[in-house]
Amino acid sequence: MITALSYIVVQTPHMQAWIDQVTHHIGMQVEVLEAGKTMRVRADEKIQRFVVCATSGEPTMGMGFEVPDAQTLMRCSMALEAAGYKTTPGTPEEIELRGVQDMMHFKDNDGVRLEIACGLKDAPTAFKPGRPIGGFRTGPMGLGHVAFITEHFEAISNLYRNVLGMNLTDYTDKPFKVEFLHCNPRHHTIGIAHTGQPAKIYHLMLEYNDFDDLGRAYDMALPNPDSIGVTLGRHINDHATSFYLKNPDGWMFELGWATRTVGPDWEVEELKGMSLWGHDRTWLPDHKREEARQILKHLAAEGMRAPVVLPENQTQLKRTAKE
Ligand SMILES: [Fe+2]
Repeated sequence: MITALSYIVVQTPHMQAWIDQVTHHIGMQVEVLEAGKTMRVRADEKIQRFVVCATSGEPTMGMGFEVPDAQTLMRCSMALEAAGYKTTPGTPEEIELRGVQDMMHFKDNDGVRLEIACGLKDAPTAFKPGRPIGGFRTGPMGLGHVAFITEHFEAISNLYRNVLGMNLTDYTDKPFKVEFLHCNPRHHTIGIAHTGQPAKIYHLMLEYNDFDDLGRAYDMALPNPDSIGVTLGRHINDHATSFYLKNPDGWMFELGWATRTVGPDWEVEELKGMSLWGHDRTWLPDHKREEARQILKHLAAEGMRAPVVLPENQTQLKRTAKE
């Protein structure tokens, strides 16, 4: 039923730090609606990809998923109710703020607010990035992907796969249970992990069209090593070249490039690791970092590699007169 991750809804006690990071570092466009209180953040032609509201309490992040039309939204509500989730229609104010045709929301098994919406509007103006970048890879693949830790793995997996209609891309049971799920050509829109830790959002992946925009984001992070949660590396499953930037609320943005896509002929895979190279998780205890290093060494000794599939919408370089 769900066709994409459409947007996220953030409540933060660090509004100004969010504005600075998403504009100057990531290169998104901020539209402040009420200074210090509410803003929309854009990544493309859509009216918003983040709705951010100030709070004096704990930070939260909820996800907004897209369905194609109002009928599917209705079917989605019925399926959720039948599965025991209480759904609530969006208020006119919530619908207006998000710039959608219609929306409803519910809480998942960990208490995370999930929204289902249709008809996310285009903005009346062209996307103006916060720094000169070639934009983000969104469109039919949606905003990106979210990975989170759950305390209710089976229930959450059932929710996304059997109630909301996502499909399994790949999985592993070691060193803990993880499933990656897709609902469009993006390799995964959701990653679910059960680590034994309390439920929390791990990261939101945003994908640049152009490799150099990722490299420059990394350059900007390097002078502040504490801001890098995971060093530059390449994922074994979606083949993203990426690094993870801590955000003001303590979870992370994965800034990536050139993920591979999946089609109807995709066959579910069991993963041999998380990354082909790099991706040192600086927040892990030393023995876990060492374990990850050993897996990378093993994969390197096997000669495991993956081709880079160039995204279609990367900036076309201007040809010189000679050519
Ligand atoms: Fe990721």
